[in-house]
Amino acid sequence: MRMRIDILTLFPAMFRGPFDESIVKRAVESGVVAIHIHDLRQWAKGRHKVADDYPYGGGPGMVLKPEPVFEATDAILEEAAERGPIVLLTPLGRTLDHDLALELASKQRLILICGHYEGVDARVHEHLATHEVSIGDYVLSGGELPAMVLVDAVIRHLPGALGSPDSAGDESFVDGLLEAPPYTRPPEFRGWDVPDVLLSGHHAEVDKWRRRRNLLWTAQRRPDLLAAASLTDEDREWLAANALPLEGSGQ
Ligand code: ADE
Repeated sequence: MRMRIDILTLFPAMFRGPFDESIVKRAVESGVVAIHIHDLRQWAKGRHKVADDYPYGGGPGMVLKPEPVFEATDAILEEAAERGPIVLLTPLGRTLDHDLALELASKQRLILICGHYEGVDARVHEHLATHEVSIGDYVLSGGELPAMVLVDAVIRHLPGALGSPDSAGDESFVDGLLEAPPYTRPPEFRGWDVPDVLLSGHHAEVDKWRRRRNLLWTAQRRPDLLAAASLTDEDREWLAANALPLEGSGQ
């Protein structure tokens, strides 16, 4: 079933480059997802199509008005029968992570609202958005880049979006671990060798070695992830034997 994503933005041209390349482009071309970009200004009122206004009570910057956002959403909802989350990209939202990307990827439809200027009228937060999503604890000048990040993170999980069927099932965060980086040719580079096991052809040994590298890299770089990761008894024993931390698990 093809997912439909509608994006409401004051800057539709920003999406052109990123969505015309790589995995997003391929996913659209192969029919895995349909992406519709809508110019919010189309729903702004008056001769000058003003979409923003001063904040009540004073303060710096301009605020995105509610009418164009609500009216655009109403109109876009009419365009297809599918329903799904109405996501406002905002630094006030839940931080995007693997689990949230997976959850959103299970929907038939997403409507993404990109805020701009100093903020979006509170009524959009309170009465229109079903989800508020942030891509991190820093403020960007608008929701466009966050929307692109979200679309990329979601699309990778749609069946058929990636070249090989299990590419997304194998990568970092899937079982709560980082995926250690791979090696490719040449087998020796500036004196650094590719580990022998990778050249051995023993698939079971390669799998075991990879698992341990994932554990090692996670322990070294993101020990906070280990506590919540799905670890086997063998993983725990290996971590303990190698004096690697297993934070928060009491071990
Ligand atoms: N808009 C501005 N900053 C943002 C952020 N960090 N995440 C999502 N939307 C935003």
